[in-house]
Amino acid sequence: MRYALLVSPAVNRVYAQAAGALARAELGAISERVLNGALTDLREQVLGSVTYLSFEAPEPELSAPARAWLSNLSATFALFRLDADERLSPVDLERWDELDSDLLTIQKYAGKTNEAFTKLLLNVTLAASAFAHEHRALSVLDPLCGRGTTLNQALMYGFHATGVEHDQKDYEAYSLFIQRWVKDKRLKHTAVAGHVKGHPKLDLAFGLDKERFKAGDTTRVTYVNADTHAVAEVFQPRSFDLIVTDAPYGVQHGAQSGEALSRRPLELLPTALPIWRAALRPGGAIGISWNNLVLRREQLAQLLAENSLEVCDSAAYRAFEHRVDSSIQRDLIVARALTSP
Ligand SMILES: C[S@@+](CC[C@H](N)C(=O)[O-])C[C@H]1O[C@@H](n2cnc3c(N)ncnc32)[C@H](O)[C@@H]1O
Repeated sequence: MRYALLVSPAVNRVYAQAAGALARAELGAISERVLNGALTDLREQVLGSVTYLSFEAPEPELSAPARAWLSNLSATFALFRLDADERLSPVDLERWDELDSDLLTIQKYAGKTNEAFTKLLLNVTLAASAFAHEHRALSVLDPLCGRGTTLNQALMYGFHATGVEHDQKDYEAYSLFIQRWVKDKRLKHTAVAGHVKGHPKLDLAFGLDKERFKAGDTTRVTYVNADTHAVAEVFQPRSFDLIVTDAPYGVQHGAQSGEALSRRPLELLPTALPIWRAALRPGGAIGISWNNLVLRREQLAQLLAENSLEVCDSAAYRAFEHRVDSSIQRDLIVARALTSP
């Protein structure tokens, strides 16, 4: 049976020419890691002068996991079964989103990682982990979290989100934003601003409804204003199921300044990776996006391997490279923690 996926117009706007290739890579990676390679013959197909990403699935009906994952790809706008006479029958989507999407779109600032790309990175990292089929609230760490795009995407999925960011302005902006957002949405919550090992810290916990909040069934945000190397002193080893992060690009964003220390990923990652690795649970996975004009894929893969992380090296996981602008060629790499560090 053939299916056709309509790529979201928002994604087309972000990646321009690369949107189709990225959607295909995401679909390929998900199929390979969580659907036993069930989706095959992925290709672009024009139907009624609109381009779809089409693919073959073995059974007449999509399996429940296939429908769920397809519904939540970062590129998915709509999904159709493609009948023999090229007629499209809509497939009901089953979004994992637990919260309103404005959580991701309200904040606008220089240096924000695109929301769709962040969702893609979280998806392919989750798929690579041993927890992809577990129906529980995973713990996600972004150790270079800026104003929280990864944290917000994790919260959308009902995951617990932890972020570390050394920029004080970012810390203040996201702390304010997330507290105001839960208030505006009238979500029952507790917020405690304090310190951990001398670093400012926000602990926020909210319930999706009053009953869940009362029963202690809350989603947690932990946000720490510190250098990423403080992860070792602030969090217990093996605290996180997934680490997802968009590393500094080694270029200046807009008119911002003061990033001199952190702008060179090659200086940051060799010392930060062992610390992040220790914070990851066995079975967990780490997904990093970075600018491959300042750091080669092979160098990063080697660093990950040196930290006993197994890099996902299939064709699908190597097909995410795309141009952001003249100084940023973005790529992503995902690696799995098969053992204790
Ligand atoms: C590419 S940005 C990530 C943006 C984030 N995903 C967002 O959408 O807001 C990289 C972030 O890493 C932070 N950073 C760089 N070096 C750091 C370090 N040593 N410790 C903590 N944060 C750091 C920068 O301040 C920046 O906010």
